Amino acid sequence: MRRAPRRIVLGVTGSIAAYKAPEIVRGLVKAGAEVRCALTPTGARFVAPLTLAALSRAAVAQDLHDPAHWEMAHLSLASWADLILIAPATADFLARLAHGRAEGLLDALVLSARGRVAVCPAMDSEMWAHPATRANAKTLAGYGYEVWGPVEGELASGRVGPGRMLEPAEIVRRALKAR
Ligand SMILES: Cc1cc2nc3c(=O)[nH]c(=O)nc-3n(C[C@H](O)[C@H](O)[C@H](O)COP(=O)(O)O)c2cc1C
Repeated sequence: MRRAPRRIVLGVTGSIAAYKAPEIVRGLVKAGAEVRCALTPTGARFVAPLTLAALSRAAVAQDLHDPAHWEMAHLSLASWADLILIAPATADFLARLAHGRAEGLLDALVLSARGRVAVCPAMDSEMWAHPATRANAKTLAGYGYEVWGPVEGELASGRVGPGRMLEPAEIVRRALKAR
């Protein structure tokens, strides 16, 4: 893609950093992007779907087998999006993407993507340092996905180290840039 993305799917997974997802939605919408949110079931335990729906002014996709979405939300969203942005992305979600899993809506959505995908990992330093996670991140880069961060900083555990999600403003800035 050479033009800046205007249609963005924000996928939110079950990291404590999910509390920052509404700020990302707000930043993207303020800049004029159209945003649709999709959550994993664990993501929905960390951030209220209603908050994301209100800020994005659109329904939030959560259930792969929702009969209201017989047209298959994962396929329609995947083809609608200029960019699929996963922020935050958990260690488990990176592992699932690396293995091409499609059990959940967000997993299936990314697997169906033909365009640009970016993931923003967020996790504890030990999880990020584990060879399995490093290998998964490398695999995703090999698929052509952009891996943004994580950075060093204060973590939810109170410790300081690598694993902190990029700041929402920086994620918004990168998301709106043409590749
Ligand atoms: C309070 C709390 C915070 C968590 N934060 C993270 C995190 O930042 N990164 C991560 O990879 N997992 C984190 N987890 C573990 C994930 O929630 C768990 O691996 C979950 O299965 C991920 O589901 P999902 O990837 O389908 O959303 C946390 C768990 C709890 C209880």
